[in-house]
Amino acid sequence: MSETLHRQHIDHIHGLQSAYEDLLDRLGLDTVAIYSGHGQPHYGDDQFPNFQAFGHFIHWAPLTNAQHSWVVIQKSQRPQLYLYAPSDFWHLPTHLPEEPWVNEFDVHLSTDTIHPTLQGRAAIIGDTEWLTPEIAAKLNVKSQPESLEKALDELRLYKSPYEITCLREANRLALAGHQAAQAAFIGASGELDIQLAYLAASRQRESDVPYQNIIGLNSHAGVLHYQYYDLGVPKQRYSLLVDAGRRFRGYCADITRTYAGPDAPTQFGELVTAIHALKDKLIKSVMPGVGFLTLHEEMHRHLADVLVAHDLFKGTVEHAVSEGVTRAFCPHGLGHSLGLQVHDVAGLRHPDGTPAPAPEHHPALRLTRTLRPGMVITIEPGLYFINMLLAPLRKTDLPINWKLVDQLSLCGGIRIEDNVVVTEKGFTNLTR
Ligand code: GLY
Ligand code: MN
Ligand code: MN
Repeated sequence: MSETLHRQHIDHIHGLQSAYEDLLDRLGLDTVAIYSGHGQPHYGDDQFPNFQAFGHFIHWAPLTNAQHSWVVIQKSQRPQLYLYAPSDFWHLPTHLPEEPWVNEFDVHLSTDTIHPTLQGRAAIIGDTEWLTPEIAAKLNVKSQPESLEKALDELRLYKSPYEITCLREANRLALAGHQAAQAAFIGASGELDIQLAYLAASRQRESDVPYQNIIGLNSHAGVLHYQYYDLGVPKQRYSLLVDAGRRFRGYCADITRTYAGPDAPTQFGELVTAIHALKDKLIKSVMPGVGFLTLHEEMHRHLADVLVAHDLFKGTVEHAVSEGVTRAFCPHGLGHSLGLQVHDVAGLRHPDGTPAPAPEHHPALRLTRTLRPGMVITIEPGLYFINMLLAPLRKTDLPINWKLVDQLSLCGGIRIEDNVVVTEKGFTNLTR
């Protein structure tokens, strides 16, 4: 691990300490305790689903698997890390990495699931289902105060240099997976084998992915969150859509690529190229002060250009947008905030924590914020042939080229997605 990363990590912790202290002042608190969470077995079983520690916990300590553990922050004191380390010969004992950030904490290893003693006016955040209002009153703590949660989410929206380094590394590793997935597709692999090639090249086990990889061949490329991996290889290979990421120290990459296969109509390959260009054009508009909703609407206008230029819509660009044609071809938002969660927090709030919901016409948009330096977002335009969404348009006299739509339906759809940092002057694309 590079020295720069370790130095940046320590600066990140110091920055968090000062931001938390300001917040404690503002909210009249002395202590905030963040619970990492813990897993529950499947109902009636002794097996557990994958565990992922709470984002605000990993924000301090990159221990993504730490269960029953706490970070406790108080003013003018070093952060405290209470790490659950049971005496358990069934599993590998908990251990801390030998990295400089650990020295920034007072570390308390605990073989039991004890709760830290909290000083003064204290608040607890995290998945603490045991913390009933009665227990909270007895411990004299506030449980999940909304104002604190909102303020901490707001803090997460702006990434420190350490976090951007992590997101860049997550992208580098994910891109190696994407190259291997493309090669596997060229080699006529099926969905499961493409997935396995992706995991191997991006050096991760499936339980560590930031979201379930979407690996869709042919019409499956048009299922937005396609959730299976077919074992076989289809006879015809029209298309492949790979939406797959990687975590690095908890931080997520979220990258999509689409490829035309040997059996695709030529128009599909041309549309893939057009959506790549659309993604690049939209990224060039990323800069401080730009509203993400404005960018999303820009995507719809450019998508209408693509529909008209490629003979899918035989009317005007304005008509394609105003009649909702582009929304039927692309029902999701242009992108979202990215960080410790793939769909990161605070995207649908104003800076003061009040709601900033998606507009009625664009209900799937996950980010309505004005872009500011330090935000990291995805830009992911798409163009899909989804029967369920196009069927109502078939009943209208809108000048849609249904013959071409039907031919392209075999290819499912296209999405191209990069991860972008908003900088003081514009943007940096991490997916390079
Ligand atoms: N991979 C999920 C998304 O792109 O939002
Ligand atoms: Mn995304
Ligand atoms: Mn994605």
